[in-house]
Amino acid sequence: MFKRARPLAHPVVVYLDGAPVEAERGEPLAVALLASDRTTLARSAKLHRPRGPSCLRGGCDGCLARVDGAPNVMTCLCAAQGGEQVETQNFVGSRRADLLRVTDWFFPNGIDHHHLMAGVPGVQDLLVGFARKLAGMGRLPTNTLSVQSARRLETGALVVGGGPAGLAAASRLAAGGRDVTLVDDGIELGGSLLALPERAGAVRGQHPLGATRVLLGATVVGVYGGEALVATPEGAVVVRARDTVVTTGAHDGVLAVPNDDLPGVLSARAVCRLASYGVVPDGPVALVGEGFWADAVEAAIGAPNVLRVAPEDLAGIKGTGQVKAVALKTATGERTVKVAVVAIAAPGAPAFEIAAQAGAETRFEPTQGYVVVRDADGRAAGSVWAAGECAGVAFDPDAVTGDGARVAEAILAAS
Ligand code: FES
Repeated sequence: MFKRARPLAHPVVVYLDGAPVEAERGEPLAVALLASDRTTLARSAKLHRPRGPSCLRGGCDGCLARVDGAPNVMTCLCAAQGGEQVETQNFVGSRRADLLRVTDWFFPNGIDHHHLMAGVPGVQDLLVGFARKLAGMGRLPTNTLSVQSARRLETGALVVGGGPAGLAAASRLAAGGRDVTLVDDGIELGGSLLALPERAGAVRGQHPLGATRVLLGATVVGVYGGEALVATPEGAVVVRARDTVVTTGAHDGVLAVPNDDLPGVLSARAVCRLASYGVVPDGPVALVGEGFWADAVEAAIGAPNVLRVAPEDLAGIKGTGQVKAVALKTATGERTVKVAVVAIAAPGAPAFEIAAQAGAETRFEPTQGYVVVRDADGRAAGSVWAAGECAGVAFDPDAVTGDGARVAEAILAAS
């Protein structure tokens, strides 16, 4: 499905279920596993359908695995250093042939664990025991962590998200004299632009962070009473900020067609991210949709390898354990075209969740989903501001970067 287009510069070895896998030091574990054709990495929690990485940004469940004894690690947010023990989880049998997959076939319209055979003597107890094994993700960690108190941090501005809008906002606020804390869950700063490393490098160069405090590999898990709870690799941090700027971007768009969750279906941006690590599809790609990321895929892997498909022409995706082909609508029915990968370039859904929890209102836009409502300056609620895609700005590196800088200016002007 994927292959490496260039030799490894700093090879290390990681392990998948005990088998050695070559990786480039510093690349995400999920990228290394895809490059070695380990496409099915996980199983859905309920129906045990096969899962593979689809977003490479911590936004799906396709890359969850047990890493060095810790369950449910997003392997796309975990940089390979060498020696990592990655174990697939949540199956009976093997990651490729999960016996619990039968639930998907017996209950194609979903399964209600709560009422299945409820009230039938004998059978009820049997099924409750079975359902407990069926649902859920992973096993408890090998090592129990000791309970620690959260650290507290006071900051002049908290920027949530280290993509182009967040980098621009943090840079301008720091230059304006604010004590700035920038939180990002990735392995490096750049957000969506990490799929285009040269553009990410240019944005980082144009927007120096100065003395900004950067919490990388850290996630704002919630905002409670005006304070943000941040999970970092070193422990929890409770952040109280004078202003909070939410630049959380957008979730990759999806298309509702049969088998749209098969391993081998990725967002167009994720395909570009793979290409940035020198990992490219090992066969034709069905590129569904258009726009910035569709054009970027074509540029990254070459037009001859790409079959452009209009979303309305895609009838479904074919395959059992992974993508094998796409079904395309024709005037007389359907035709099947073999492909190795399906890249989806659908409009992203603004990541409004943190802003909404912090008190912002949202508005439904038919073509985008829920976007954060803000005033002309970018203020969403009290000391909460929003910039970039989460506020409905269509993705374009210059547009979202400019929006981040503009909102930062407004914050400084309002001080
Ligand atoms: S969360 Fe890792 S690939 Fe989507």
